[in-house]
Amino acid sequence: MILVTGATGHVGRTVVRHLAALGCEVVALVRNAEAASRLLPPSSALRVADYDDILAMKAAFAGIDEMVLVSSDGEARAVMRHHANVLEAAAAANIRHIVFTSIIDTDWQSPFYFAPVYRDAERRLAACGVPSTILRCGLYCDFILEHWLVPSQVSGELVLPAGHGRVAPISRDDVAAAVAAVAAKPDRTGTIHTLAGQRALDFGEIAACYGEMTARPVRYRPCSVDEYLALASARLDDPWPRAFSSLCASIAEGRYSRTSNDFSAITGRQPESFAEFLRRASPGSPRTR
Ligand SMILES: NC(=O)c1ccc[n+]([C@@H]2O[C@H](COP(=O)([O-])OP(=O)(O)OC[C@H]3O[C@@H](n4cnc5c(N)ncnc54)[C@H](OP(=O)(O)O)[C@@H]3O)[C@@H](O)[C@H]2O)c1
Repeated sequence: MILVTGATGHVGRTVVRHLAALGCEVVALVRNAEAASRLLPPSSALRVADYDDILAMKAAFAGIDEMVLVSSDGEARAVMRHHANVLEAAAAANIRHIVFTSIIDTDWQSPFYFAPVYRDAERRLAACGVPSTILRCGLYCDFILEHWLVPSQVSGELVLPAGHGRVAPISRDDVAAAVAAVAAKPDRTGTIHTLAGQRALDFGEIAACYGEMTARPVRYRPCSVDEYLALASARLDDPWPRAFSSLCASIAEGRYSRTSNDFSAITGRQPESFAEFLRRASPGSPRTR
C-alpha cells in the first residue's frame, strides 16, 4: 500500500492519479478531507493528518508499506519541522521505503532560503533507518509561469535578480509522473535522481518564449536584489520576497542550470519542453488557439 502526502496539492494529487492508473493500491494523506473530496477521484482512500500532528500521522501510516513524501511548503522553520515529523512518524510506523521530492540545490553555500530545509530533510532521511529514493527537482515550469511570467505581462518586463543564470525547468505533471513511476517499483538502494529539463534556458529565452506564445512581447531585465525586494514586497507576504530573491541568487550562481536525462530513464519518454508546457498550460493564448 502506497501513501502519498500533500495529496490535495498539484504534485500529490497527480501522483495519486498516476499510481491508481498503474494499478497500485494508493492512499492519500490530506489535512482537509473536504478539499480532498473535491480534488481527488471519488474512489480515493483517504487518511487525515496534519504534518504538525505526529500522533495523527503515526495512526495514519498504519499498514502502509511505501510512502511518497511530497515536500511541504511555507515558512522555512515550519517546513523543516513538517519533514522531520513525517520522517519520525514513518520510521515509527515501520514504513519500508520513502520517495522524497527534494530540490537540486541543497549545497551548504547556497544562498537559497530553502536550501538548509532540504539539506536537513535529506540528512534526516539518511538517518531515519527507512530506505529512500530522493528525486531532486529543478525549478517547476508552473512556478516560473505563475509567479514570474504571468505578473510580467502587465509591464511587458520580467524583472528578476537572476543575472544571466540559466534554469532547466520541468513541469509539475512530469515530476508527478516520475515520482509515481519510482514509487510503483521501489528501489531500496538509496538512489538519488535529478528531475530537471533537458535544456537550460536563460530568462531572456524564457521571456521571449512566453511573449511569442501570448503574442505580447516580454523582455527580461536583470535587476538588483534591492529592486526586486521592493517590487515583490508590494504584492507578496513574507517570506516569499526573500525566498524568491534568494532563489534568483542561486540561479545567478548557476545552481539551477543542471540538465538531466533521469526523467527519460525513469519514465521511458522525454519530459515536456518549456514551450510545450506553455502551450498546454495556456490553452486560450493566441499561439495555442
Ligand atoms: N521546484 C519548484 O519549482 C517548486 C516550486 C514550488 C513549490 N515546490 C515544492 O513542491 C511541493 C509540491 O508542489 P505543489 O505545487 O504540489 O504544492 P501545493 O499544491 O501547494 O501542495 C502542497 C501540499 O502540501 C500540503 N500541506 C502543506 N502544509 C501541510 C501540513 N501542515 N500538513 C499536511 N499537509 C500540508 C498541502 O495541503 P493543503 O491542500 O491542505 O494546503 C498540499 O496538499 C511544494 O509543497 C513545495 O515544497 C517546488
